[in-house]
Parts: sequence; structure tokens; C-alpha cells
Amino acid sequence: MTSSCLPPPRKAPCAPNAGTPPEGRHPATVASLLFIFAALLALVACGETSEPHGAHDSAPQPAAAPAELNETARQGETVFNTHCAQCHGPEASGTNLGPTFIDRIYHPGHHGDAAFHIAVLRGVRQHHWTFGNMLPVPGVSETQVDQVICYVRHLQRTAGIFKPTEYQPTC
Ligand code: HEC
Repeated sequence: MTSSCLPPPRKAPCAPNAGTPPEGRHPATVASLLFIFAALLALVACGETSEPHGAHDSAPQPAAAPAELNETARQGETVFNTHCAQCHGPEASGTNLGPTFIDRIYHPGHHGDAAFHIAVLRGVRQHHWTFGNMLPVPGVSETQVDQVICYVRHLQRTAGIFKPTEYQPTC
């Protein structure tokens, strides 16, 4: 749509004719009726096109994952970089000592948040990969593990490992 979508002027140009005798008023009235009709058509047409097609067909989608980390995730990043990244890699991208978490294997539906607490407390026996066992990681509190979970889930969601409808981060 082009300029026809512009709102019509408030007053029909012929409005000042209001005081003229009846025989002079007639053509002006027809003209203003035509004008209003055209304006209404334009409004209807613009109203239809201004709405994206299919806007009502699908449920509103939550906004894409924000690129920035929230406060908890940022704290988790620090804990992760101190205690986990030497094996799980920067931004959980993996190293030759441990796996990446940006993998369907670690989808929250397969490895829930509890798996992180258990891994840190008790270690992990090699079972998914061939990196060897993960030893328990001492000196990391439950709160810090929660922060790491927040960070890792953020990375996973940004990478499209899970949809916002599949898992709601607790942070
Ligand atoms: C010394 C290396 C190393 C460090 C440090 C390490 N991990 Fe691991 N981690 C591993 C390895 C290797 C595996 C994969 C075991 C397998 O499934 O074969 C693993 C697996 C895991 C798993 C998957 C558990 C499961 O149930 O399959 C989680 C969760 C995890 N690590 C969390 C962490 C967290 C959180 C930290 C930091 C607090 C951390 N790891 C530090 C080596 C490490």
C-alpha cells in the first residue's frame, strides 16, 4: 500500500459549503460522500494489509532467547570457567578432556538439572563418551551448581538445543 493508506484529512474539502442554498449543496454532498467512501475503502484495505498474514493462526511465540546473560547466569559462567571449563570447554563447547553440553544428549529432558548436582557431588562414570570418568568437583556449593545450570541452559537454549516450551529455566 502506498499513499492511499494515509489517513484522510479531518475535514472534507467541501465542508465550508455548508451554508450555501440547497441547490448548490447537492453536488458538494455527493462529492463528500464519495470522498468518505473512498477514505473508508482505503482504511479497510490498509487495515487488512497492516496485519501480518497468519497473525491469528499461531499462538504468540515467546521472544527469542536474549543474547545477554542474566545475573545468575553470569555468576554461573564464573563458576563454570573456574571449575568446569577445563574439561567442558569455554561456553561448554567441550575439550579433549570432556564433552560439550551443547548437544541433544544434555537436553534438559535427558539430563535434568539434578544430573548436574549429582555429577558435581559424586562424579560421573564414563558412559556417553570416551573421555574417561569425571571426578567429583569439591568446593562448589549447591547454589553455585544452580548458577552453572542457569548458565548452561542459557547456552543450550541460545543454541536451539531445546525450545522455550520444553523447559523453563528456574533463573
Ligand atoms: C576433569 C574433567 C572434568 C571436569 C573438571 C568437570 N567434568 Fe563434567 N564430565 C566430565 C566427563 C569426561 C564427562 C562425561 C562422562 C560420560 O558420560 O562419558 C562429564 C559429564 C558431566 C555431566 C553429565 C552427567 C551425566 O549424568 O551424564 C555433567 C552434568 C557434568 N559433567 C557437569 C560438570 C560440572 C557442572 C562441572 C564443574 C563444576 C564439571 N562437570 C567438571 C569431565 C569433567
